[in-house]
Amino acid sequence: MSHRLVVLISGSGTNLQAILDAIQDGQLNASVALVLSNKAGVAGLDRAHAAGIPTAVIEHKRFPDREQFDRAMIEAIDPYDPETVVLAGFMRILSDVFVHHYRGKLINIHPSLLPRYPGLHTHQRAIDAGDTQHGCSIHFVTEELDGGPVIAQAVVPIRSNDTAETLSKRVQLREHALYPLVLNWRAAGHVELHQDGVKLHGETLGIQGHQLEWQD
Ligand code: GAR
Repeated sequence: MSHRLVVLISGSGTNLQAILDAIQDGQLNASVALVLSNKAGVAGLDRAHAAGIPTAVIEHKRFPDREQFDRAMIEAIDPYDPETVVLAGFMRILSDVFVHHYRGKLINIHPSLLPRYPGLHTHQRAIDAGDTQHGCSIHFVTEELDGGPVIAQAVVPIRSNDTAETLSKRVQLREHALYPLVLNWRAAGHVELHQDGVKLHGETLGIQGHQLEWQD
């Protein structure tokens, strides 16, 4: 049986595409049961349609508050009984209700080496700080924004002539490799959220998770 995913998006869906491609190529033993977007008309929905995957659009604007929006998402997601709920460029802060409901199953990708640079404009902030390295993190989602325990990070160098745009392209390339890798660990039952942090292959990981370095 392949590992059942529900993927939440808000935009272009290049991470969704990387997951779909890995499944298609037989590199990821998973299936995407539903793609849910909080925005209509985004390119990620076209990617899901092209792959023949059911989609749902639940626009946050139509709800009076965050919690009611989140409850509507739970109602849409639960019939698919996902083993992992994947945030792939989903740009809404989630309420405690949602986070509790999927605790231990909800993972996110964030474009920085957490705990550095939670929030937005991560690439520019890393350049402005004079950092020599940047990257992306995949983490379990908890109540703290971009603060949940990290599963894995891909580290990339920052070059002296980098702009936020060139750096974000280099990081995104790694995002597209890292998500299928981590989802494979999930599918094989190798990664779990415990009281004392993330366990990968039975070992408790440190604050930055399992780090992979790429030079290019
Ligand atoms: C990705 O780079 C992801 O790391 C970022 O949004 C982009 C979505 O791209 N996520 C966040 O900033 C979450 N805090 P995509 O829609 O093409 O996958």
